[in-house]
Amino acid sequence: MEKILNPEALDQKIAECTEKLNDKLSGKGGKRAILVCGGTGCLANDSQPIFDKIAEELKARHLDDKVSVTRVGCFGMCSQGPFVKILPEDTLYCKVKPADVERIMTESIEGGKIIEDLLYVNPVNGEKIVHQGDIPFYKKQQKVALHGVSTIDPLEIEESLGCDGFKALRKVLTSMKPQEVIDEVLKSGLRGRGGGGFPTGRKWQFAANVNAPQKYIVCNGDEGDPGAFMDESMLEGNPYAVVEGMEIAGYAFGATEGYFYVRAEYPVAVARLKNAIAEMRKAGLIGKNILGTGWNFDVHLREGAGAFVCGEETALLNSIEGKRGMPRPRPPYPAIKGLWGCPTCVNNVETLAQIGYIIRIGS
Ligand SMILES: Cc1cc2nc3c(=O)[nH]c(=O)nc-3n(C[C@H](O)[C@H](O)[C@H](O)COP(=O)(O)O)c2cc1C
Repeated sequence: MEKILNPEALDQKIAECTEKLNDKLSGKGGKRAILVCGGTGCLANDSQPIFDKIAEELKARHLDDKVSVTRVGCFGMCSQGPFVKILPEDTLYCKVKPADVERIMTESIEGGKIIEDLLYVNPVNGEKIVHQGDIPFYKKQQKVALHGVSTIDPLEIEESLGCDGFKALRKVLTSMKPQEVIDEVLKSGLRGRGGGGFPTGRKWQFAANVNAPQKYIVCNGDEGDPGAFMDESMLEGNPYAVVEGMEIAGYAFGATEGYFYVRAEYPVAVARLKNAIAEMRKAGLIGKNILGTGWNFDVHLREGAGAFVCGEETALLNSIEGKRGMPRPRPPYPAIKGLWGCPTCVNNVETLAQIGYIIRIGS
């Protein structure tokens, strides 16, 4: 994507991308969209060959100008994956195998029929459910931290722009003072999602109160807790939203550099985050003079080497500095003396993923 030079150009791009994504999802012009789950759980169950085969079949049947296929982030109910969703009908097929692709094409896409044996079965009453929105697990969900996840292509910055991406960054850079951002996050009551539950706005306030030439924001994506995959889901499904949250944090307390620390056991999350950072850099949403506002922000990525203790924020800082991942005594807290001795806020992935939403909607 070409470089976005000012807020007005961003507005225009957002409007274009929003229209394009909405048209795709709503079936405008009689077109249909197939979404294939590309979360790690489904990838481990062959969702990549399913995606490739669907793309191949669409071409072979000359349907590729009428039906699109997109690999999206995690659908959440991993025990039922791999998922294939057909829009605009909202038909959800579960536990799909590569061998099912031909039937999906012939019976469902070309024939307009529902394939009964690929539907979700409600374990309470044995009822087969056709539409994702009717499945009890999804019925009342309202995605906040997971905004855009399982809807957008996580490798396409334009899809993120079509799903509210960077509206909050534009808002803070053009109409809010840093202290107003901190106040808004304080008022929202957001507490850190990394386990400690410390009020995010208060942490940012501590760092803002320190006068220092260099400050850092660090995103903790170590996710060491066994069986926890929420940070992974966000980084795989909409990495742009997490980077945007990091930038807003940096603007709020005066950091001009951000570090992601993501466990190396998350190769899909790491690859998609790397791609997002590169795309944002190309679009001028990372780097110097962002949106022509004179504000600079750079982002780095470090992969953790798999030590549980490195999820603890001070051990994590040692690890980024290339030292042994051992916790440091606190105080001083990182907000006062963190990375390379500079004021640093460490925030969890899920914490940062909610910042854009809070700024867009208000506290
Ligand atoms: C042993 C240990 C392991 C931790 N592992 C993680 C982790 O994997 N991810 C995380 O975000 N926080 C972890 N924490 C909490 C962090 O030290 C820190 O509180 C958190 O990253 C701050 O972000 P938040 O304010 O957004 O929650 C761990 C803490 C301890 C003591």
